[in-house]
Amino acid sequence: MRRHHRTTPRISRLLGSLLLVAAAGAFTVGSAPAPAPAPDPAPAPLGRVVPAPASVEPGTSPYRVTGGTGIRVDDSREVRRIGAYLADVLRPSTGYPLPVTSHGQGGIRLRLAKGPFGAEGYRLESGRKGVTITAAEPAGLFHGVQTLRQLLPAAVEKDSVQPGPWLVAGGTIEDSPRYAYRGAMLDVSRHFFTVAQVERYIDELALYKVNKLHLHLSDDQGWRIAIDSWPRLATYGGSTQVDGGKGGYYTKADYKEIVRYAASRYLEVVPEIDMPGHTNAALASYAGLNCDGVAPPLYTGTDVGFSSLCVGKDITYDFVDDVVRELAAITPGRSLHIGGDEAHSTSHADYVKFMDRVQPIVAKYGKTVIGWHQLTGATPAQGALAQYWGLDDTSEAEKAQVAKAAQNGTGLILSPADRMYLDMKYTADTPLGQDWAGLVDVKRSYDWDPGAYLPGAPASAVRGVEAPLWTETIQSSADIEYMAFPRLAGAAELGWSPAATHDWDAYKVRLAAQGPRWDALGIGYYRSPQVPWPAR
Ligand code: ACM
Repeated sequence: MRRHHRTTPRISRLLGSLLLVAAAGAFTVGSAPAPAPAPDPAPAPLGRVVPAPASVEPGTSPYRVTGGTGIRVDDSREVRRIGAYLADVLRPSTGYPLPVTSHGQGGIRLRLAKGPFGAEGYRLESGRKGVTITAAEPAGLFHGVQTLRQLLPAAVEKDSVQPGPWLVAGGTIEDSPRYAYRGAMLDVSRHFFTVAQVERYIDELALYKVNKLHLHLSDDQGWRIAIDSWPRLATYGGSTQVDGGKGGYYTKADYKEIVRYAASRYLEVVPEIDMPGHTNAALASYAGLNCDGVAPPLYTGTDVGFSSLCVGKDITYDFVDDVVRELAAITPGRSLHIGGDEAHSTSHADYVKFMDRVQPIVAKYGKTVIGWHQLTGATPAQGALAQYWGLDDTSEAEKAQVAKAAQNGTGLILSPADRMYLDMKYTADTPLGQDWAGLVDVKRSYDWDPGAYLPGAPASAVRGVEAPLWTETIQSSADIEYMAFPRLAGAAELGWSPAATHDWDAYKVRLAAQGPRWDALGIGYYRSPQVPWPAR
């Protein structure tokens, strides 16, 4: 992650405990006499973590990271790599060497062991002698490392040496996720984002144990992934964006780099090719894909629902087969998202016919279908997941259609637009974003239960949640961050934390403690008045 450069005022210990209150703020003195040692401030409470851990047992003695601390890892490449990642986080701000070794005693230990951790869970034990993170799988160690970061002072995220002390509260955290699917979507079609911008977002998602990055790779305004057998999709279809900028696309090497980087943070990339609607960029690139054989112009506006692949033409399925084959070949994850939303220019009969032909193509290339929930109006394939993006006031009939599919075995990913859409404005004054699903401040975004959300859908059908970010109005990493933070943290908690921990009043206090961390990371967030942020 690109770190924010700023000078941090030195904390003055000149007046010792009398001015302990100054230790929380910034108290600058020119050339001070030798400072008297101040008592250590208390470490952050063990449970002050987002997402809330499943279980927290406070202990008595904190662990202090010092210049003598080592990071001890199992002698395996992957655990060593996680140790190196942790060292990279801790070294710039502590200034300590933090060697990563597979021998020695005490310090920070990362170990794999059999235990009741599942694929992503971990145990973190902290005391006077050290911190040990144990997990059955490397992903669990990585998530435990994120917890450890949050237990250290926010200044640990800075990129220059800070005074410390670096205390981790004592005790034991046992933690594992409520849902296996904890996603965030980035729309790279309406505005294109570079590999570096996507990787920055991946780092931010990893902080909150998000494990799926859904990339919306195609839409009316831009096709963003190179397909060798249909090269104009990217070179022409990717050549613009909303408001007519130059757009862009990922080469296969770029896409593989995003996949690799995501995997190094234990996120899986879920690529989406939206069809049969939202396809103007493809239709503009190849005249033959159009029912009338005439390519429309490129599109840089923000309307939806005007484009459709030609359901009656065989070339449509040759196109889909080629795109899915090439995309599946560079996607190690199990899922491939085929869109299916807002196909307002496709008749219902054509929509059903299209999905009946396209879903088997996805299966042929070894992937599982994900579609927006309109897919439940066709016949979802065995194992398909439907991503629900309705609102409180979506019709009962539409909700019932999704619930019925869920009863019949279609898994659900919940992205209710009036809760989880990160592009909705927080308030009427939010300078970015849209408001068609309403205004979504932090409490509304957090305060619902995915397990009991959709009437008639069994809780067991819910595979997780996802926070999509559509980018009609979003053009930079700063824009992404302002809309994602703080709401993304709540979305991540809904996906990770047990329902029993869900409590707005407790959450807003844990969330407030993230503010200084985002400041230290250079993440510009919306300081919602609903959250008791510490003064800056
Ligand atoms: C969507 O917002 N059209 C999925």
